[in-house]
Amino acid sequence: MSNTNFDAETEAEPEPTTGDAEPAETAEVDAEASDGLPSVSIADPDVSADAIDRVRDVLESGALADGPEVRNFESEFAAYCGADHAVATSNGTTALHAALEALGVEEGDAVLTSPFSFVASANAIRLAGGKPVFADVDPETYTLDPDDVRRVLSERSDVVGLLPVHLYGLPADMPALCEIADERDLFVLEDACQAHGARITGDRVGTFGDAACFSFYPTKNMTTGEGGMITTDRDDLAERAQSYINHGRAETGTGGYEHVDLGHNYRMTAIAAAIGRTQLERLPGFNEARRETAAFYDERLSDLPLETPTEPRGYRHVYHQYTVRTADEAERDALAATLEERNVDAAVYYDTPIHRQPAYETISTAAAEFPEAEAAADEVLSLPVHPNLTEDERRSVVEAVHDHYHST
Ligand SMILES: Cc1ncc(COP(=O)(O)O)c(C=O)c1O
Repeated sequence: MSNTNFDAETEAEPEPTTGDAEPAETAEVDAEASDGLPSVSIADPDVSADAIDRVRDVLESGALADGPEVRNFESEFAAYCGADHAVATSNGTTALHAALEALGVEEGDAVLTSPFSFVASANAIRLAGGKPVFADVDPETYTLDPDDVRRVLSERSDVVGLLPVHLYGLPADMPALCEIADERDLFVLEDACQAHGARITGDRVGTFGDAACFSFYPTKNMTTGEGGMITTDRDDLAERAQSYINHGRAETGTGGYEHVDLGHNYRMTAIAAAIGRTQLERLPGFNEARRETAAFYDERLSDLPLETPTEPRGYRHVYHQYTVRTADEAERDALAATLEERNVDAAVYYDTPIHRQPAYETISTAAAEFPEAEAAADEVLSLPVHPNLTEDERRSVVEAVHDHYHST
């Protein structure tokens, strides 16, 4: 099923790089595991010497918090995405929360998102006082299914916005989702926390909706340690978000202490911005390395009874995760066990859809409404695809997967 689209343009010369994944930041080592097999980690954050130099400059400058370093990172990130504005935040969750506040979400407003995502996508809606509502995902892309979005919208009138997630680095079907939003006058907030640099026909994520949010957690395609970013073309949203992350201050920077709204301190530090600026320079190389590994796996896993990731025509996947799908849960768990024995890190993103999380017990609708999200949660497994994988490591991953199927 894999159809990685190699006529998509290349962004830059491949360059070695970073890693990604939610539950835990896996500091990778070239260590030999106890049984002698080299271990292949799922993530390998790569913060280079130039980041260290730039952080040293910031430390020596004494300007450690908000200031020119953060402003520069914002304008460079906005330019990279092709957005008019960017607002740097303390992490991806605070970016989503601040963006929803800037979009005017109020107590009880329903916002429709994917049940098959990291919990932060829906948590941010609740933090803003809203009510997460879910629609099912497409079984091949794992992103919101526009037909199911229409079904849900036909049944309720309280939805004020859509929050699609570009899961694993693949953009959601933004043309269809934006059309639905236009018809019903809904806002669109992209959760691009896993998709820095991904595109649909030349347009980067971060430019399709009213606003978009990114995470710079260490496992992501680029990192600042912890950090986040909101992008938008709307002047009003940029201004409101910038104010919200700074206690509702009337203006940013060293202006007065007039606070026009309630807000938070969700600001990014200059230290994080310094790291981010160097990571952004390396992002095209990081993404290219991820895509090369994805192509390597696509080719070598295509004859096995599993599904490799889909890249719809015109889409450019950035493989935050390389996620395969097995026939059923037992098969997925058996493959994960084989990989663990072979010291290959593999991980399940996500084994519990959000509507079945204990924290969502009182607000979620029945699990049976999202059969595709349920099935995906049982059958997906992500293989290491971070940009620092060596040729030997990629081969070990492929060999381990093949050995699993040939021994069963
Ligand atoms: C899809 C998605 N949304 C939101 C977030 C939240 O980002 P952060 O961990 O930086 O708060 C993440 C990060 O893990 C994510 O993967």
